[in-house]
Amino acid sequence: MKLFVKKSIAQLLAAPEEGGHTLKRTLGVGAVVALGIGAIIGAGLFVRTAAAAAQNAGPSVTIGFIIAAIGCAFAGLCYAEFASMIPVAGSAYTYSYATMGEFIAWIIGWDLILEYGVGAATVGIAWSEYLNKLLNIFGLNIPYEWCHSPFEKVIDPNTHAVLQHGIVNLPGIFIILLLTIVLIRGTKGSAFVNSLIVITKVAIVLVVIALGWGYINPANHTPFIPKPTIYKDDSGVSHHFGGITGILGAAGVVFFAFIGFDAVSTAAQETKDPKKAMPWGILGSLAICTVLYVLFSFVLTGVASTEDFRTHGKEASVAYAIEHMAGGLINGVWVAKYQWLSNLVTIAILAGFSSVILVMLLGQSRVFYSMSHDGLLPKVFSDVHPKYSTPYKSNWIIFVLVSIFAGFIPGDIVGEMTSIGTLFAFILVCIGVWIMRVKNPEIPRAFKTPAFRFTAIMGVLVCSSMIYGLGWTNWARLIGWLLIGFIIYFGYSVKHSLVRKELAEVPADPPAPELKVTK
Ligand code: ALA
Repeated sequence: MKLFVKKSIAQLLAAPEEGGHTLKRTLGVGAVVALGIGAIIGAGLFVRTAAAAAQNAGPSVTIGFIIAAIGCAFAGLCYAEFASMIPVAGSAYTYSYATMGEFIAWIIGWDLILEYGVGAATVGIAWSEYLNKLLNIFGLNIPYEWCHSPFEKVIDPNTHAVLQHGIVNLPGIFIILLLTIVLIRGTKGSAFVNSLIVITKVAIVLVVIALGWGYINPANHTPFIPKPTIYKDDSGVSHHFGGITGILGAAGVVFFAFIGFDAVSTAAQETKDPKKAMPWGILGSLAICTVLYVLFSFVLTGVASTEDFRTHGKEASVAYAIEHMAGGLINGVWVAKYQWLSNLVTIAILAGFSSVILVMLLGQSRVFYSMSHDGLLPKVFSDVHPKYSTPYKSNWIIFVLVSIFAGFIPGDIVGEMTSIGTLFAFILVCIGVWIMRVKNPEIPRAFKTPAFRFTAIMGVLVCSSMIYGLGWTNWARLIGWLLIGFIIYFGYSVKHSLVRKELAEVPADPPAPELKVTK
């Protein structure tokens, strides 16, 4: 059996126009950049930063952000070239089908479920933390067991007795349900709401940086790179803390904060001028976010200590940090000077997380749409709603899958699974762009990756170093995930692949399809 059958670019470009399965082209460049930033700033910054500081690197999480940004920039340049060359839905999956063949495309497509589906679950869990924070303002509280997975518990630091135990994260499931319904009703409306949320989100990040800068306590930044030790968290899991390994681990964790710029490319089929909008959307949103992240993480780790992020500031960490910038004890109770800001930020973060989940669910449904269109997944994933023109059945199936992760797995685990899966996909994309330059240099590219050999090698190296930093438990999870994917591929997909069926009908040595050169 030929594992590496390829789709021609001509086939790829023709596909979106086929039959009645077309998605509507409604998005312009501005909407695409907004979609990018909407997808990028989220739980990675507002939740995972504190987790990386607590478990991996202390204040040197800031360096982790820089490493993650470098990896994303190299991989992003490769993505941009692909996106400008093959402007159809499906992200890295679609690109790899044309370059490295069906088997690798399947691996990437399967891997992207970690990025989008499991990523959406991670943000859903983070949403649940901030929802609780919001309810606290009104004196309300969701009981611990109904907003945590069964694998999470609160342990008494003195007696080590288990004080509380999670059952299911209901708010996490609730927000996924709500946004699934929004998505089914159509992308255009959701892109407009998304633009409003993006503005709020960026504004909040800027306010926190500007205000918090004055409250940085140098003691919290000393030492900036902690000495290497082992940190054991509440669930008894050990982490390499401090030193270079700690920084690489933190980079792997906060890499999550950059995920999403590539989700932009999955919306290519819905953009008006994909060749221009795709590279701009990808690189523009990445650049803006990098500057914001480095400054934000520097402020966050300066206004609260690593110990805070391991204890009282573990959940809804940004609100915690704002409340502890300034204030005083009144009758033994801490009264925060910027409580109002903390409240405002909590609301903005809830809205911000929603926009991230929306884009991730959108990305997931589009990847499934493409895979189903190619016959690698059942047709149900590409059935389009007669009125809303959205793949609604796929959206419902995704809701069920994502809910299982959001409801029953801890945020740390799903977050790291998302990171490692995406890093792996990025590595394959970097290799793919190189292969494509060598094998198909004649195909027009609206955007060309500068110094592509260097860019691709650096992309592979930096992303691999973050995979290394994420440690063996995550490597094992990724391998397990890929094995499940292989079972489905060899059990279902190879038998239903349309490219294989077409090849079987074509006589030996068919002439190479002529590419239409478009300017
Ligand atoms: N980058 C997105 C976030 O941080 C996934 O939530």
